Amino acid sequence: MARRIAFVNEKGGSCKTTLTVHMGAWLASTAGLRVLLIDLDPQGQLGKTLGYDVSAYKRTTLELLLDDARNPALFLRRTRFKGLDVVLSNKSIALFPTLVASDPDRDRRLLRAVERLRDYDFILFDSPASFGTIMLNLLLAAREVIVPVNATFLALDGCAELVRTLETLPETHGLPNREISLIVPTLYRPTRMADSVIERLHAHFPGRVHGEPLRYDVRMEEAQSHGLTIWEYDPRARSAGILSRLGEHVLAMGPPREARRVAAADPAGRHARPDAVDPRGRPREL
Ligand SMILES: Nc1ncnc2c1ncn2[C@@H]1O[C@H](COP(=O)(O)OP(=O)(O)O)[C@@H](O)[C@H]1O
Ligand SMILES: [Mg+2]
Repeated sequence: MARRIAFVNEKGGSCKTTLTVHMGAWLASTAGLRVLLIDLDPQGQLGKTLGYDVSAYKRTTLELLLDDARNPALFLRRTRFKGLDVVLSNKSIALFPTLVASDPDRDRRLLRAVERLRDYDFILFDSPASFGTIMLNLLLAAREVIVPVNATFLALDGCAELVRTLETLPETHGLPNREISLIVPTLYRPTRMADSVIERLHAHFPGRVHGEPLRYDVRMEEAQSHGLTIWEYDPRARSAGILSRLGEHVLAMGPPREARRVAAADPAGRHARPDAVDPRGRPREL
């Protein structure tokens, strides 16, 4: 069974899409795992960040959720990263709550779809910025919740709000309890204010705040405007190293029987590209 991770924050611009794409690319290309990204955001920026023009696509996350009689593999696309597939989204997914309004089991559609996708080590979900039927589907389908937060003074509020939402899910929707697995401070600039926000996050969520914030890095914005990951655009950029170390952390957070077996048996990974291995046989950055 795949590790299923949602990148969630109700605030837009907190780097959910950035982390989903980069963690997916890292886990596939550097760790050599099979990874699926599923975009649930009507803005469709996950696809745009990977260089797709998503507006015209017909086989998107919406169809995956609606068409449960068909094989979910029909909705997947290969990406340019070996081992990384994606289900794209566009604004059509905003219709989803209306289209399933009469289905009493509407909150479990995503869960049912991903349970039928058995070939992956990881499934990562990019979430919309608002709460509702789509978010409920997401929280039921995911097992782990990673929260990127801008290191501003509202960060704590946002996390506290999300904790309350997650805590009320079991009562209000019969969902299993979900906890925040990891908080990743993002768009960090070294100011006293940002440092004190991060200290408070550590105090409130001990052991669950990633120790190395994702710094504000203009190279990252440039990379995304070209539809490239930071490793492709500028592997020496500061954020490239930070995101690789975050990839290692995410990989180490979970049990993946699959991942451990791969790491032990084949340090380059089953799916690593030949050029992703350096002469000493270690996986190399993208
Ligand atoms: N480390 C960074 N430094 C500067 N800008 C960044 C960085 N990471 C992401 N961005 C930019 O921040 C914006 C918001 O990121 P995004 O991942 O789309 O947020 P969300 O999905 O939470 O709305 C994007 O324009 C992205 O290019
Ligand atoms: Mg986004």
